[in-house]
Amino acid sequence: MITLRDIIEIKRLAPEDLDDMLMVEEETWEPDLRADRETIRERLYRFPEGNLGAYVNNNLAGFTFAQRISYPRKTWEGNSAKEPFDPDGKYLYIVNVGVSSRYRGMKVGTRMLDENKKLAKELGCDVLCLGARDTDGNIPFYTKNGFAIYETVNGFWPEDKASNGIGHLMEHRIKD
Ligand SMILES: CC(C)(COP(=O)(O)OP(=O)(O)OC[C@H]1O[C@@H](n2cnc3c(N)ncnc32)[C@H](O)[C@@H]1OP(=O)(O)O)[C@@H](O)C(=O)NCCC(=O)NCCS
Repeated sequence: MITLRDIIEIKRLAPEDLDDMLMVEEETWEPDLRADRETIRERLYRFPEGNLGAYVNNNLAGFTFAQRISYPRKTWEGNSAKEPFDPDGKYLYIVNVGVSSRYRGMKVGTRMLDENKKLAKELGCDVLCLGARDTDGNIPFYTKNGFAIYETVNGFWPEDKASNGIGHLMEHRIKD
């Protein structure tokens, strides 16, 4: 039987996908939390393999960016910027997972996490990790996908009003 999950196609994103990515970014995040064109463009060059798009009927429905780091810091910025990127890092840190509001509840987010698990394995990383905003739904979304909280941090993402800046550091172990 074909499930919704099967019709989602994952592709590596490239600079020519920037306009579509910006549209999805607008349909996903509040204005204060959106990445701008230059930030997204720079990520596409910084670590190309970490940029994955989820397509439904050939439309970009969501995208994710992850980068290798050598250890997780306790702020979103501290893990997301250029400086922590380490091409040999043993942690794959998910900087963002975003699904356009039009495509939520269809397992698009789950498929993108699955692809990040695969990528972490292929790269030989020990841990896939992220900081989850303390908002309704984010924690169940990640726990259902095999992530566990190991620390809760105040001031994780100060600009994020919806979470009062609180973030939960979460991980999914690839190797024990
Ligand atoms: C969080 C987000 C990525 C989830 O994407 P999605 O494609 O809608 O999620 P899925 O359909 O794969 O959901 C997987 C499971 O998580 C649960 N889940 C997802 N969002 C949820 C919510 N808001 N409340 C409760 N559970 C939720 C689903 O019910 C589903 O459970 P099931 O397996 O029992 O059916 C999406 O809502 C989003 O982009 N939000 C805005 C950006 C954001 O906050 N990103 C996360 C940053 S930490």
